[in-house]
Amino acid sequence: MKGVITAGGLGTRLYPMTKVTNKHLLPIYDLPMIYYPIQALINAGINDIMIITGGNNAGDFIRLLGNGKEFGLKRLSYVYQEGEGGIAAAISLTRDFVGNDRVAIMLGDNIIEKNFAKAVHDFQKQERGAKILLKEVDHPESYGVPTIQDKLIVKITEKPKNPDTNYAVIGIYLYDNRVFDIIDRLKPSGRGELEITDVNNAYIEEGTLTYEILDGWWADCGEDRTSLFEASCLVAKTGANKL
Ligand code: G1P
Repeated sequence: MKGVITAGGLGTRLYPMTKVTNKHLLPIYDLPMIYYPIQALINAGINDIMIITGGNNAGDFIRLLGNGKEFGLKRLSYVYQEGEGGIAAAISLTRDFVGNDRVAIMLGDNIIEKNFAKAVHDFQKQERGAKILLKEVDHPESYGVPTIQDKLIVKITEKPKNPDTNYAVIGIYLYDNRVFDIIDRLKPSGRGELEITDVNNAYIEEGTLTYEILDGWWADCGEDRTSLFEASCLVAKTGANKL
């Protein structure tokens, strides 16, 4: 299975911290943010990774991470996204890299306390489709929120005003190879982006989306300066990416 990390965007919600650098290079406690998703993928058994970046200072990722040898990666590749087309548009740039394989996508500003190795293991046994991870949160309206009936996700709504559950769809997505055909068929959302939630809804319609509840805390640290600070505190207190 291949790994992909999204690390684009202009990070405008974190100005002026992101005026001269990419959000994913900012420190979370004692490491640059991008280190955490890389380690999370490695802990899930993935050692062939592509980073999608964009905006200014994309070259700093290469200066920081090089060929991934420091992490023991088999390969670390990079692709550059022009403009702000959304997460799904970014993923479509990795089609050749993923080839006929399956892919684990992790949003570069998501940090987890433990690991998702079990989800990857279970997904490998799944004949086809997708698997997502959920986490109970205080403010589901900031995220993609699943509607669950009889333990099955029947739909996901992006940032709903009145969430059906207290779960957030976290930024770790396991897909089979057909994800690229699904993205090809997507239409831009109200905010003009190809939404990852629409990719997941396509798998739901097909009846091939499964889910697991993430063990340990989850932080989406790129939302605003408070979430950035809180993520640093969590990492300082308990550590991240535990095996
Ligand atoms: C994105 C997804 C959302 C998901 C979240 C997790 O939102 O669109 O469904 O719950 O990541 O971090 P964004 O953070 O881009 O607003």
